[in-house]
Amino acid sequence: MARILIDGGRPLRGTVSIGGAKNSALPIMAATLLCDEPVTLQNVPHLNDIATMEKVLQALGARTSRTADGTMHVDCGAGVKEEAPYELVKTMRASFFVMGPLLGRLKKARVPLPGGCAIGARPVNIHLKGFEALGATVSIEGGCAVAVADKLVGARIVLDFPSVGATENLMMAATFAEGVTRIENAAQEPEIDDLAGFLNSMGARIEGAGSPTIRIEGVRKLHSATYPVIPDRIDGGTFMVLGAMCGGPITVQNVIPAHQQAVIAKLREMGAVIDVDAAARKVTVSCDGRLKPVELKTLPFPGFPTDMQAQFTAALCLANGTSVISETVFENRFMHVAELSRMGANLTIRERTVLINGVERLSGAPVAASDLRAGAALVLAGVMAEGRTEVSNVYHIDRGYEDLVGRVRSLGASIERVEDNGNGK
Ligand code: UD1
Repeated sequence: MARILIDGGRPLRGTVSIGGAKNSALPIMAATLLCDEPVTLQNVPHLNDIATMEKVLQALGARTSRTADGTMHVDCGAGVKEEAPYELVKTMRASFFVMGPLLGRLKKARVPLPGGCAIGARPVNIHLKGFEALGATVSIEGGCAVAVADKLVGARIVLDFPSVGATENLMMAATFAEGVTRIENAAQEPEIDDLAGFLNSMGARIEGAGSPTIRIEGVRKLHSATYPVIPDRIDGGTFMVLGAMCGGPITVQNVIPAHQQAVIAKLREMGAVIDVDAAARKVTVSCDGRLKPVELKTLPFPGFPTDMQAQFTAALCLANGTSVISETVFENRFMHVAELSRMGANLTIRERTVLINGVERLSGAPVAASDLRAGAALVLAGVMAEGRTEVSNVYHIDRGYEDLVGRVRSLGASIERVEDNGNGK
């Protein structure tokens, strides 16, 4: 079990580079199951969640290899099995993304239900209803979702909520359905568009991804392709928040600013100065003096991302006044609030809203990451706090941030990762 030790309060400035998007790479990796020819993915980040998905693919019969530069080769040529192993699926919800492609290719799939997690119950009812609409018979057996179909037939599917995972799973299943599928009230996140880009690069016919209505014309076969994953907008957004908190300037390289509009607009409202260079794919953030308080509500894209809520909560703890954050996407995503309070922040939770009375300073403390983004928020708070912060449960952070400690240190922070044996890394 690793810990992160931070001696806060040092000035930070400099440039960081952003890797490939975890939340794009995961469904794209699952989508390789649809193709019986080898595919090459580029800009795949080195993260624990990616390693887990690679193991899931291998368990399903894929051959995979990776290189240090973020290239991954996947060959799902022969012998793909319909049953995903519980031991892997239970460690990562996104493993459920294999259900759609398995059903699409094999017309049968058996995938353990992923269960809840720290931020909410996270059911998969919308995914399953969509599979049924495509003609599959769905049942729950022994803790697994089981779907079988003689054939899948294109259908009009109206999602109850624009679920990111359900939209992706249904796009993948519908790729081999006969005729046309229309997904309405679809999620519009950039990762949806990226998945469609990958599927289309293999010969799928998908239009409208990134809008509320996605049209998928079924095809019979996909072919080999090479595809680069988009940059990670949440990793990029996390460093933009850091730039606003510490004053900067911090330049965040390899981001697509169009994906960051809600975050950039909110940071500007908080008083940050943001220079966007879309052509060079970089954003520079600085701030003179204390941040201003704001009201903020998480929403599906293009609204403010729930995956940035914890980091903004950390930033607003130090703002000059009272902020209000409403979480509308997940029902229990305030686990970081108690930990930030231990650092001297003044926060009150009222149902799905948190009131933040900004304080002038935070003080370092031992704190525990409860989930991935909560962990990042504690690192941001620790970098700004006076004295030492020790963040435990670092494995949450390793799921989705590549060398967070090294990149924050490169900006001037006093931060190190310590493994359980006490050795720095
Ligand atoms: C994805 C992201 C996650 C992000 C979330 C929302 C990945 C790997 N993860 O998660 O980082 O926080 O989008 O932007 O891409 N819901 C149902 N029934 C369903 C499906 C979802 O009720 O069948 C609910 C969920 O419980 C949640 C809300 O819908 O309250 C949003 O979930 P969803 O958009 O599906 O998120 P994920 O795809 O799980």
